[in-house]
Amino acid sequence: MLTGRTILITGGSGFLGSALVNTARAQGWNVVATYHSHQPRISGVRWEMLDLRNGAATRTLIEQIAPDVVIHTAYRQEGPDMMAITAGGAGAVAQGAVMVRARLIHLSSDVVFDGERSGRYTEADAPQPVTAYGAAKADAERLVADTHPAALIVRTSLIYGGPKCPGRHEQFVLDVIDGRAEAIFFTDEWRCPIEVGDLAAALLELAVLDRSGILHVAGPDVVSRYEFACLVAHALGRDPMHVRGGPSPKDLRRPRNCALDCRLAQSILTVRIRGAREVLG
Ligand SMILES: NC(=O)c1ccc[n+]([C@@H]2O[C@H](COP(=O)([O-])OP(=O)(O)OC[C@H]3O[C@@H](n4cnc5c(N)ncnc54)[C@H](OP(=O)(O)O)[C@@H]3O)[C@@H](O)[C@H]2O)c1
Repeated sequence: MLTGRTILITGGSGFLGSALVNTARAQGWNVVATYHSHQPRISGVRWEMLDLRNGAATRTLIEQIAPDVVIHTAYRQEGPDMMAITAGGAGAVAQGAVMVRARLIHLSSDVVFDGERSGRYTEADAPQPVTAYGAAKADAERLVADTHPAALIVRTSLIYGGPKCPGRHEQFVLDVIDGRAEAIFFTDEWRCPIEVGDLAAALLELAVLDRSGILHVAGPDVVSRYEFACLVAHALGRDPMHVRGGPSPKDLRRPRNCALDCRLAQSILTVRIRGAREVLG
């Protein structure tokens, strides 16, 4: 138990953030968590409103809380403020963490890569984003590393929850199968999905380790978007036969293969990260 140590979780109202809040509380952390537009009803947690577009307010909040550890999950994937929130906001969080000498774990993404190679990407590979979101996450990584050299930057992949708490990727599969949305799931776009509880447990283990730089933390199974959708359908009680798969259009600029090499994380962590086929199959 970690009685007396304070952890600040940005994006505590989000999918990964909520899992982190619950797990950190259970481990005995004194939890402070932020939301932006939806204040969750998780009790036993100090909730603070945060708008990452306001760098000064972000730094002041961190100074006032003076946490031992910050896990920064908050971001925006699209919209006019994406760069300010996702990249600029990460820089402000890093500045705040430096000011109070807090350990910082920053969440990044596999889409910082262009996805054009055939094998897995290691921590030594240089980011080469091909989407605006990937570029914002790559900028965020640079800002965090420059501002807070002791920070740990964790790149992860599709985060899912399984039958008990399906996340937005799973919800989308259900929407398509149940006729509320239309999509073909690509057979040539590969990811390493990770279950949200496994990722939260890994991040909290890393929170108390002295490790900096970049670390890939994702599931061991490389699956296509199509296979992932079939696994989700199966796990959530739908017929995978209703999932339509096909190749991505040639003119669509998307990172195709974002498989992450996670051997370094596996050598550090005691938490076992399960593959999508094990969790959903
Ligand atoms: N989800 C994935 O599959 C995936 C894959 C790879 C990497 N990641 C990374 O993992 C992290 C967490 O992802 P997630 O899917 O759990 O996120 P999420 O559920 O979309 O949650 C995003 C969080 O950011 C907060 N937020 C939005 N705008 C904000 C602003 N202007 N100021 C402060 N906070 C703001 C939201 O608050 P409100 O809801 O209260 O507005 C929410 O708590 C992200 O850094 C993401 O890049 C995710």
